[in-house]
Amino acid sequence: MKVGVLTGGGDCPGLNAVIRAVVRRTVAKYGGEVVGFRYGWAGVIDRNALPLGTDEVSGILPRGGTILGTSRTNPYKIPEGPQKIHRAFAEEGLDGLVAVGGDDTLGVAYRLFQEGLPVVGVPKTIDNDISGTDFTFGFDTAVAIATEAIDRLHTTAESHNRVVVLEVMGRHTGWIAVKAGIAGGADLILIPEIDFTLDEVSEIIRRRHGRGKNFSIVVVAEGARFPAEEGDQGGGLVVQQSSTDAFGHVRLGGIGNKLAVELERRTGFETRVTVLGYTQRGGTPTAFDRVLGTRFGVLAADLVQWKQFGKMASVHGDKVLPIEMSHAIETVKRVDTELYEVARTFFG
Ligand code: F6P
Repeated sequence: MKVGVLTGGGDCPGLNAVIRAVVRRTVAKYGGEVVGFRYGWAGVIDRNALPLGTDEVSGILPRGGTILGTSRTNPYKIPEGPQKIHRAFAEEGLDGLVAVGGDDTLGVAYRLFQEGLPVVGVPKTIDNDISGTDFTFGFDTAVAIATEAIDRLHTTAESHNRVVVLEVMGRHTGWIAVKAGIAGGADLILIPEIDFTLDEVSEIIRRRHGRGKNFSIVVVAEGARFPAEEGDQGGGLVVQQSSTDAFGHVRLGGIGNKLAVELERRTGFETRVTVLGYTQRGGTPTAFDRVLGTRFGVLAADLVQWKQFGKMASVHGDKVLPIEMSHAIETVKRVDTELYEVARTFFG
């Protein structure tokens, strides 16, 4: 059995755990071989591949990033892209390919599967917004990093009597903001799923300071919508760059700064901003993400052996199960109202 593996989209702690598990399971249990494609789909198109054996994956479990490299290459936007992938499968003699990625990478994987290629998926994103699975690996690490940031911001905010706005990742959903916000005791959490007004948020901060508190921590997801009421400033998504990548995504960022300006203007409290950015995706994965990535990788190797193509790994409670890959692209998994209500209990 010859198995290919690639990692696509933004990197994420736990990717190396998946790669290692695919290799170890394929070699030890099935006597097969594995080839790793570099930089996502680009590596299949360009035939940029390397053999991965037990030695090549030794020691990578605790390492962040991906030893294969990653990219946001969309084969369907490249002339002859899909045809080149079909040819690569035939000429490499692949019995199956494990595509590790978010909704974009898995969307391509699913399309190729529909065209007849033997592909399975492993869902990945720090944003935790993929449907059909309770968690994606990388999310737990991102929440731990954001929680630590909130803890650290508390002491400096309190020392200076300041409001501190922490902008975290989360393109479509506020999972990182809500989980880290609850864990870190944030005084206000703003997410893409829930619209807010500047009057409301200013009032929450004023109320808190009115009961004797001299500092506040506000967590905002990068994909939260800035209120449209600001007229000339405009509302909606706040973007750093409006040009789009190969999957049609703009580069988000900047809502923290806009919010801080308005909060300071409306409340009179000195306000500062921290944009956590890529530290949320970097570095060593938590134990939870290593275990989840490992379980997903083992199942993906099994799915190839069992010829269960078009499926992806998922976790439900403590069970890791195969589900249809189409789940990953159908809908975005949004923060549930119940969880946000828990967070709201501690606002102000
Ligand atoms: O999809 C995960 C994510 O971390 C988003 O939260 C963020 O908007 C995006 O990746 C940014 O990725 P990049 O700058 O690498 O394109």
